[in-house]
Amino acid sequence: MAIKIVFVCLGNICRSPAAEGVFKKMVSDHGFADQFEIDSAGTSGSHVGELADKRMREHAKKCGYELTSRSRKFEKEDLNAFDLILVMDDKNLKDVAAQALESQKTKIQKITDYCQKNKLSYVPDPYYGGDEGFENVIDILEDACHNLLQELKNK
Ligand code: 4NP
Repeated sequence: MAIKIVFVCLGNICRSPAAEGVFKKMVSDHGFADQFEIDSAGTSGSHVGELADKRMREHAKKCGYELTSRSRKFEKEDLNAFDLILVMDDKNLKDVAAQALESQKTKIQKITDYCQKNKLSYVPDPYYGGDEGFENVIDILEDACHNLLQELKNK
């Protein structure tokens, strides 16, 4: 059975669609596409229906990732539907955990728990900053997604 993973940030237009794009490409490049269901969502719902932010899409494209997802709001049902819920920061963690049953809380993790090169405790929100913030997001996500895939392959 496929492993179902949803990446979660606030707006689902910068960090989590980038994580979705990076992880989908990595999984596909390694020949594991049929073993995963990969999605993303945002806790706020304030950008529902939108493509990822243009700046995020452009930076992702430069690094070889096509971001095509549309923003959707994270729903309580996602805690049941997905095996792993990977959030970008502590606010996302708090907002998702607030909707979770006690038994579902172990499914929620910060994606930075998988970082090895970048010793970080959250993925900084690039929305109000410049280009380097978007580059940084891709860098962090490549590091985390690489280690995530290695860990899941070994299971
Ligand atoms: P994201 O970034 O959570 O990585 O998608 C943001 C997108 C939109 C806003 C904040 C962060 N906003 O305030 O609209």
